[in-house]
Amino acid sequence: MTGATTLATADFATKLNGVAVPSESPRSDNRWDDLERLRSSHPMMDAVIDEVQGRRIRIGNQWLSDFASCNYLGFDLHPQIIASVAPAVQRWGTHPSWSRLLGSPRPYVEIEERLTELLGAPDTLVLPTITLIHMSVIPLLVGQGAVLVDAQAHKTIYEGAAIARGAGATLHRVRANDPEHLAQVLRSLPANVTKVFCIDGVNSMTGNAPDLPLYARICREHGALLYVDDAHGFGIVGESPTPNMPYGYRGNSIVRYYNESYENLVLVAGFSKSYSSLAAFLALPASLKNYLKVAAPPYLYSGPSPTASLATVLAGLGVNELEGDDIRRALCQKTRRVLDHIAKLGLRTLNTSGYPVIELPLGNADEIDAVGRFLFDRGIYVTLAPYPLVPRSQVGFRVQVTAANDDSQIDQLNDVLTELCQRFEMQPATGPV
Ligand SMILES: Cc1ncc(COP(=O)(O)O)c(C=O)c1O
Repeated sequence: MTGATTLATADFATKLNGVAVPSESPRSDNRWDDLERLRSSHPMMDAVIDEVQGRRIRIGNQWLSDFASCNYLGFDLHPQIIASVAPAVQRWGTHPSWSRLLGSPRPYVEIEERLTELLGAPDTLVLPTITLIHMSVIPLLVGQGAVLVDAQAHKTIYEGAAIARGAGATLHRVRANDPEHLAQVLRSLPANVTKVFCIDGVNSMTGNAPDLPLYARICREHGALLYVDDAHGFGIVGESPTPNMPYGYRGNSIVRYYNESYENLVLVAGFSKSYSSLAAFLALPASLKNYLKVAAPPYLYSGPSPTASLATVLAGLGVNELEGDDIRRALCQKTRRVLDHIAKLGLRTLNTSGYPVIELPLGNADEIDAVGRFLFDRGIYVTLAPYPLVPRSQVGFRVQVTAANDDSQIDQLNDVLTELCQRFEMQPATGPV
């Protein structure tokens, strides 16, 4: 970390047309310095993408294979899904600028009906983004009660929990991969307090799923609600997994993957990853849906998802039904090729699931900048994972495989990883966590 000094408010307030504006980011500590240095100087951060061709992107003069996209199913490039946009915009205009409380174009109803069937859920509610859902719904569910958050939960869950705490709830951190700790914390809370435990489904960094049936059982035993964010699992994992189809079928998310019930469980996921569309949803009981319709600000006030996104969600649901399992089968094989190569190189990855989110931690966290530049120069685009986005022991990079990465790109990635571990210190497969 660099030793930047803490600025006093007066130092960064300047006047513009008589209004005080910050001339530098206000900050109370230097926790973000590493990230800011990378953001402002690194070609693989805050980049401007000049052109896209399939899963190849151009940044300036450099063409790169894109392993940072969350479009896991390749729906962003699917001809039928692309073709769905123009007719929908012709029919509904570009944007339904009513808040949902005022009115929802019929595609919303169709999406919620089809989604409810796909998930086998009691009901569903579509809102613009998962971030908005966490920030508005977690405080409503918790009230003045207790919000418990898994240590590895996504940052946006923590934001929602922090808002709940600001409104009078208590916040409790639960050790990751430690269901017994959850039981301990729940036991320590008064019986009459509302309790909500929040956790990721398929985790955005490790690529692994929690033991959901165990967490669900513990929550039910202690009268707590289980709130699951499966942003990365929806579209990828689904019902009835087998050794030949380890992701399961239909991509209907982690609850169905485990054949778990929705009792005392709220599932949150989004279309902005596998379905390449700006929308998100909750799977929830109808009574809670009706409550959120009058209490959750994104339903009452937010501008809704654009018409193009509603169209691509609907078209995506259709493509998922017809082609989804074949796409997932191919995605699983591509991911397997990368994971097998990583194992052959003896490198550690957090991924033990075989899902297409693969974090590779560095041996020396200070080399993140150089490793990123090496990958960029070799034409590989990944997500850098610097501190404080991940703990220092996990600083590294994340590779995401999508159905639209072709075999030659997987070969290229594997070759570059071979070269990378000859030049840089990576954590060994058997090394410390
Ligand atoms: C686990 C998880 N939850 C939520 C989000 C944010 O989703 P949205 O773009 O719908 O706000 C992300 C995106 O990175 C994520 O990985």
